[in-house]
Amino acid sequence: MTYKQLKELWFKFYRERGHAIIPSASVVPDGDASVLFINSGMHPLVPYLMGEAHPLGVRLANVQKCIRTGDIDDVGDATHTTFFEMMGNWSMGDYFKEDKIKWSWEFVTGKDWLNISPKKIAVTVFKGDEIAPRDEESVKLWLSVGVPKERIYFLGKADNWWQLPNGTGPCGPCTEMHFITDKKPCGEKCDPACDCGRFVEIANDVFMEYIIDSPGAKPRKAKQQNVDTGYGLERILYLINGYEHVYQSELFNGALKIIGSTCKSGRVIAEHTRASIVLIADGVTPNNTGQGYILRRLIRRAVRYAHQLNFKDYPALINNFSGILGEFYPEIQASEKITKVFMDEVSKFEKTLERGLKEFNKLKTLDGKTAFKLYETYGFPLEFTQELAAEKGMTFSIDEYNAEKDKHTKMSQTASAGAFKGGLADTSGETTKLHTANHLLLEVLRRNFGKTVMQKGSNITPERLRFDFTLDHKMTEDEIKKVEKETNELIQKNLSVTYKEMSLKDAEKINAIGAFGAKYGDVVKVFFIGEDSIEICGGPHVQNTSELGIFKIQKEESAGAGIRRIKATLS
Ligand code: ALA
Repeated sequence: MTYKQLKELWFKFYRERGHAIIPSASVVPDGDASVLFINSGMHPLVPYLMGEAHPLGVRLANVQKCIRTGDIDDVGDATHTTFFEMMGNWSMGDYFKEDKIKWSWEFVTGKDWLNISPKKIAVTVFKGDEIAPRDEESVKLWLSVGVPKERIYFLGKADNWWQLPNGTGPCGPCTEMHFITDKKPCGEKCDPACDCGRFVEIANDVFMEYIIDSPGAKPRKAKQQNVDTGYGLERILYLINGYEHVYQSELFNGALKIIGSTCKSGRVIAEHTRASIVLIADGVTPNNTGQGYILRRLIRRAVRYAHQLNFKDYPALINNFSGILGEFYPEIQASEKITKVFMDEVSKFEKTLERGLKEFNKLKTLDGKTAFKLYETYGFPLEFTQELAAEKGMTFSIDEYNAEKDKHTKMSQTASAGAFKGGLADTSGETTKLHTANHLLLEVLRRNFGKTVMQKGSNITPERLRFDFTLDHKMTEDEIKKVEKETNELIQKNLSVTYKEMSLKDAEKINAIGAFGAKYGDVVKVFFIGEDSIEICGGPHVQNTSELGIFKIQKEESAGAGIRRIKATLS
């Protein structure tokens, strides 16, 4: 069965059972900062699983792009990939256990569908805890479709309960189907919870009838009983074709040919490149924080393995993957753009990798400080160094690494604040005026939208100020007018501008606004504009707001997720 046929079969099966087919969401969560990536098909559907009406009805199905970087170390084995596709279907308060178990069985074993021998399937059900009872109902249903008792396993919360990684939202016990491979049991107790490779999980049906209101809270019974299903596409594709691992299927075999290797190094290069292009296609760029950091780790890890094999033809690899995935995900067709982002990061790292490895190979022991130096000088991500260290049987303290990193951040930022460089093109009269106006603007934004408004970046030229700040929505015309008016009102109060040097602690005590959290040294300069604005800053500023003139907001636009940008002038 081909990749395309498998997807079509999934859609056909659920379309025939009244489901609307919806597209995959981006792997970057929309407006949810609590998790880095979409890790399952239910994740973008949380509002509907909580009771909101979906415009396409109560039965949905799709194939969702998912990222699970927790599995990064297992990449290269038979089944694990950091990017995978999840075939999913949902009942939003419609059918429940009976239909779901009947359909799951039919899809997996039916002649017109996957046609897997029933003998090759084991199932697991929830064994019960203080929240949800032992799932005897599912057992009855599995028995009724023909699963023998000895292939039904009761497992606990670690295996048979599903909730989001942030520990909130819709959740519940689940029942899974596992493919029984030809491997011998690893011992008497070998069951689907075992990771010896004899059982491969292919499907999960979650009976979502609980909700967790906040992290750590007990799940409570929900009003709506949902079904949330997830089938692992890569796994099913290799298993039904009789292969031994995911890399033998058409999703990867072309890539491994290009790389010229089927060993672990080759698989890691292929897998990480594939995951990276999915991230780039959804707008992620390599960076030192958040999603961008994960992308950086994936690319750099691929480059390290590629270095071992002397492989360099990433563009061919990217074309191969974008050809396969692009048919279903149009954003992945943009292979030229994706290749550019990918190759920029590759070139950056290739420049330092060899020297860094040489340095590393000289080491007999490693500590957190040296690990940070490898990051700072050669761009080795922390996890990357941990992996190299583990290969040589060395360990180091992550706390020490982090302490060194904090120290370094503070030092470099104190230096730049001292040089008055924080976002100012020069220190001419015009930029100084705009700089003072910028403080007033931030104060007014916080008065209007609350103290969560923080500076995210600032750039001032003699002509204009450009200010990025956190805000969860596009400002309305009225809001823009109001902010502009209140900033001018402060200017017209003819406030004098003064500063004091004090400890960071004291600055915090008087509620001075700190723009970048931990960037400062122990002693900071705090600027006062009358009593209206108190902000930690290196200066320079005008002496009195009467020098500023009229403040005007020229533009308000997005500068990223949850970040707005204002361009403004003085005249
Ligand atoms: N949400 C369930 C899972 O990801 C289906 O396994």
